[in-house]
Amino acid sequence: MTQIKVVGVLGSGQMGGGIAQVAAATGLDVKLADIDLATAQNGKAAIEKRLMGQVARGKLVEAEAQAVLTGIEPVNGLADLADCDLVIEAASENLDLKLKLFAELDKVCKPSAILASNTSSISITLMAGAISRPEKFIGLHFFNPVPVMKLVEVIKGLATSEETYLAVKAFAEQMGKEVVSCEDKAGFAVNRLLVPFLNEAIFALEEGVASRDDIDRGARLGLNHPMGPLTLADFVGLDTCLAIMEVLHKELGEDKYRPAPLLRKYVAAGWLGKKSGRGFYEYS
Ligand code: 3HC
Repeated sequence: MTQIKVVGVLGSGQMGGGIAQVAAATGLDVKLADIDLATAQNGKAAIEKRLMGQVARGKLVEAEAQAVLTGIEPVNGLADLADCDLVIEAASENLDLKLKLFAELDKVCKPSAILASNTSSISITLMAGAISRPEKFIGLHFFNPVPVMKLVEVIKGLATSEETYLAVKAFAEQMGKEVVSCEDKAGFAVNRLLVPFLNEAIFALEEGVASRDDIDRGARLGLNHPMGPLTLADFVGLDTCLAIMEVLHKELGEDKYRPAPLLRKYVAAGWLGKKSGRGFYEYS
């Protein structure tokens, strides 16, 4: 089975940073890449800030935080991921961008390397079809915040080999995650359930069914969810929610998956949730 020792993470935002942190905490060598070195360094700085917050709260020993940070090397773009055994792409949820990144990774990475996408909804078979090693391509879908959430969905494309699947499943389990294996269908298992729920909460807000705070309070108190759906949509990113709804709508072809007009409006306004400072709530 492919031995995974050096892991590349392409994309240093909230998902990529979380994946890099957990992989390094497992003792793996991690190369963190983004559009350039400075962006990857900023990604590492955000990880450091989170870890130091945990040290300050007495949740983590400083030496452990330093060991994680030592394991993460920011690099200058994907050309520096050539010697990785596994590269996990965690860029924006945009098909054209992902196809471009995987075409470049396919050229740069050693032939034995596995390429994985953290996509939340885009077809694994479609992305695998665009590279020369579809048997070494797989979906590896983490949940936010990655250090906290136990689940990883592993998604085989039509051509993904059993060897690739087993290597990636073992990697996820080594990271302390639990694996759910999914078919390559839009949204896989969890986002097929979650994102229409978030979208429906936005419809309910738009229709005046209840106030923002009461919709969220209802889900917290009535469903025991840790966050209400409007808070969670802000947390996930409203642009990501919209991108996922658009894929569900297109691929599954039913009106019940149409994105809420208010969601489109917020994204058009640049109100993307927590990361932009404003979504259904304001963040300072
Ligand atoms: N990154 C890393 N760790 C974080 C974090 C972050 N962004 N936010 C919180 N944490 C950690 C804290 O450090 C803390 O750990 P500690 O106990 O070791 O110090 C722990 O999480 C709990 O944090 P808090 O006590 O501050 O806050 P809460 O108890 O309110 O929990 C939460 C925060 C874990 C985010 C909780 O509200 C929750 O589970 N929310 C739902 C999250 C969820 O549904 N995620 C899935 C989103 S969908 C997705 O990712 C798929 C994608 O494709 C759309």
